[in-house]
Amino acid sequence: MRVLGLETSCDETGVALYDSEKGLLADALFSQIEQHRVYGGVVPELASRDHVKRMIPLIRQVLDEADCAPNEIDAICYTAGPGLVGALLVGASCAQALAFAWGIPAVGVHHMEGHLLAPMLEEQPPAFPFVALLVSGGHTQLVRVDGIGRYQLLGESLDDAAGEAFDKTAKMMGLPYPGGPEIARLAEHGTPGRFVFPRPMTDRPGLDFSFSGLKTFSLNTWQQCQATGDDTEQSRCDVALAFQQAVVDTLTIKCKRALKQTGLKSLVIAGGVSANQALRQSLEKMLGGMNGQVFYARPRFCTDNGAMIAYAGCQRLLAGQRDGPAISVRARWPMEQLPAV
Ligand SMILES: Nc1ncnc2c1ncn2[C@@H]1O[C@H](COP(=O)(O)OP(=O)(O)OP(=O)(O)O)[C@@H](O)[C@H]1O
Ligand SMILES: [Mg+2]
Repeated sequence: MRVLGLETSCDETGVALYDSEKGLLADALFSQIEQHRVYGGVVPELASRDHVKRMIPLIRQVLDEADCAPNEIDAICYTAGPGLVGALLVGASCAQALAFAWGIPAVGVHHMEGHLLAPMLEEQPPAFPFVALLVSGGHTQLVRVDGIGRYQLLGESLDDAAGEAFDKTAKMMGLPYPGGPEIARLAEHGTPGRFVFPRPMTDRPGLDFSFSGLKTFSLNTWQQCQATGDDTEQSRCDVALAFQQAVVDTLTIKCKRALKQTGLKSLVIAGGVSANQALRQSLEKMLGGMNGQVFYARPRFCTDNGAMIAYAGCQRLLAGQRDGPAISVRARWPMEQLPAV
């Protein structure tokens, strides 16, 4: 089965062509980051308008690259939520219009299921069951995964998502959006031990997270540097390192707890923050100590992309799922509500 995948949940237009036998045939992405950077975050209306502009040229590009004619496509998958409603509607209406014109089915995909399954596109994919840590701009969740659509939420952030905390910490130090890669870059030059930040909610049982206090801790530390005239590039690096280490340690502690609780030894990390090298290393060390394994996608499939949507949609189509022609999207959509495959 050959499927076209469209992703428009936020500020990236992603298009990919996936073949269930041959694998990923082509993928293309347009990131709107430059347009939103001046505002320090994503402006929903600008995002929707830009998806409209990029979608058809990107589809053409992907079909050209894969040397694929429209009549060779069996179905279209699109992100149906969660995300920005206006942005989602662009992908959904485009997918439904093309599906109608080409006389093929369309299926709406859950964006976080897309992220979760992205490591399946790699050479050594994880096998079910596993624990997944979803760490993106909008989500921080620990999920027990027994198969596609068989998800049990083990814990989640009670306030900011990990990626959001990276972005906000970066912003208050005057760094550009998105802040995650900026913090990671500065942290490489940080002085270990100069600042030590708390590891929130690790001193009590449970698998929930809270990152907003950590963000405030970073702000207070940075303001103290400013008040004493020590707001230098080195101090910025030191705050970045202390913040990143606190997030990485907290995520590692909770992942270890989730693996112990479930008795599983495979951990999948997905979403933008899973591109973070310090996090990967820390989890690899932790899993190495317990004879387990950590799986993640190549960096460009950690953040939003069309390939993960094409892959996830293809699995649901192969299982017989088809959606009607209605153009319907959801800003919020708990992943546990998805039907099992
Ligand atoms: N190397 C990195 N280290 C830490 N954070 C990173 C890194 N690279 C990207 N991020 C963070 O990942 C987030 C973007 O990831 P992603 O595109 O998966 O999120 P999103 O699509 O905005 O949110 P969601 O998927 O929850 O709707 C941003 O918050 C960004 O700062
Ligand atoms: Mg995302």
